Order: sequence, then C-alpha cells, then structure tokens
Amino acid sequence: MHIDDVLRARKSVRAFKPDPVPLDLVTEILEIASLAPSGTNIQPWKVHVVAGDVRRRLEEEVLAHRETQPSDASAEFPRTSKRKEPYTSRMRKLGKDMYSLLGIPKGDQTANWRQWGRNYQFFDAPVGLIFTIDKDLDAMSFLDIGMLMQSIMLAAKARGLDTCAQGAWNNYWTATRRILGVPEDEYIICGMSLGFADENAPVNTLVSEREPVSSFATFHGFE
Ligand SMILES: Cc1cc2nc3c(=O)[nH]c(=O)nc-3n(C[C@H](O)[C@H](O)[C@H](O)COP(=O)(O)O)c2cc1C
Repeated sequence: MHIDDVLRARKSVRAFKPDPVPLDLVTEILEIASLAPSGTNIQPWKVHVVAGDVRRRLEEEVLAHRETQPSDASAEFPRTSKRKEPYTSRMRKLGKDMYSLLGIPKGDQTANWRQWGRNYQFFDAPVGLIFTIDKDLDAMSFLDIGMLMQSIMLAAKARGLDTCAQGAWNNYWTATRRILGVPEDEYIICGMSLGFADENAPVNTLVSEREPVSSFATFHGFE
C-alpha cells in the first residue's frame, strides 16, 4: 500500500473479531514501528503486549476495580478534563456520532458507562498494548511515544489489522500496574487495541472529520 492509502485507511476500530493475531505478526509490527524517530534517539517507549490469560485477567480485574472506584487517574498522570473551543465541539461531535451508531441515547449514563468500559475489554481485540514511560522524562518524550503509536497503527493497517489508541488505560492504572508488573517509576500513559476489525459492527462505520489545512496551518514566507 502507498503510505497515503494507509493513512487514509487507518481509523479507530471499536469492535474486533476474536481471531487471534500471531505473535510473529505482532513482533514484526513492533519491529518496523520502532523505526519511529525520537528526540536524541533515546527511544523512551516501553510496551506491554497482552494476550490470552493475562489479557483476560487484566480485563476482569480492571472492570471489577472500576465498579468500586470511579477513577484513579488523578494521582498517576497529569491530565485535564477542561477543554475550550474548538476542542469541546469536536469532542462532542465525535461522541454524538459514535453513540448514535451504537444506538445509545443522549443522557443514558448507564449505557455510556458500559460502553466506555468496552475500552477495558480492548473492544474484544485479542491483543492489547499498554504503553509506559519513565516518569522523569519530559513532555518531549511523550511525543516520541506518539510517534511509535502512530507507526504501530500504520504498520498494522498495512498488514490488514486494525487498532484503537486508548487513553482510557491511564485510568484504573493501579490494577494494570499490579498485573503487568509496571514499576512505580513509570507512567502508564496509553493503551491500544490490536486485531481484526469486525466489519459488520455499526460502530466501525464511524468516520471522524478533519478540519481543513487552512484552519490549523499558518504559512510564512511563501510567494
Ligand atoms: C492518544 C489517543 C488516545 C485515545 N483514546 C481513546 C480511548 O480511550 N477510547 C477510544 O475509544 N478512542 C480513543 N482514541 C481514538 C480517538 O477518538 C480517534 O483517534 C479520533 O476520534 C479520530 O478518529 P480516527 O482514529 O478514527 O481517525 C484515542 C486516540 C488517541 C490518539
């Protein structure tokens, strides 16, 4: 596939078939994705790749923990829920489109809660990835993780696989840290589902919009 076609074809998939992804294929994807650049080539990424029993245990324990504790994100990783325009509108548009495809009516908090919980089942993908980073690195290194993640998503797409990046995994990090043995000096920053898309799932027909280049780029010095 041409790189432009891979970029166009990649989208977040939120319903997967149970078909397993062979270890060799996951390793190949990670190997090619590790060509991603990083500031001063420190390659600060760390990734836990979970499948089988460990993936099942992670799902069960994180979901059980979630029932007793709304979130434990605040003490782990600095984030904000405060958003201003135009971000609020874009976020709402995504939510509205997605929940409409899922048949979840606006304001149905129980269904919203359940659907968000699907993150912790990796949307049924057979493989989950949990990205961690040393806590003493700065924001530049978080960009490096993003570079790796996009490279993984594109390498997966080029091989017929789909993904969904999942910031949701930096909530409920206590159970994840315990099960995967993530050291205290690392943040759990993001997760990712990896597998074969369920082409029949309505949620996977979601097409997220993009703003035109003129809305985000300022050109200087061109004739
Ligand atoms: C860093 C990051 C975190 C994300 N976290 C989640 C998440 O927790 N759950 C989810 O369903 N989608 C998540 N997404 C997917 C975004 O919603 C999605 O990328 C965006 O709506 C654009 O849609 P597209 O990926 O289909 O192009 C995340 C994406 C990124 C890049």
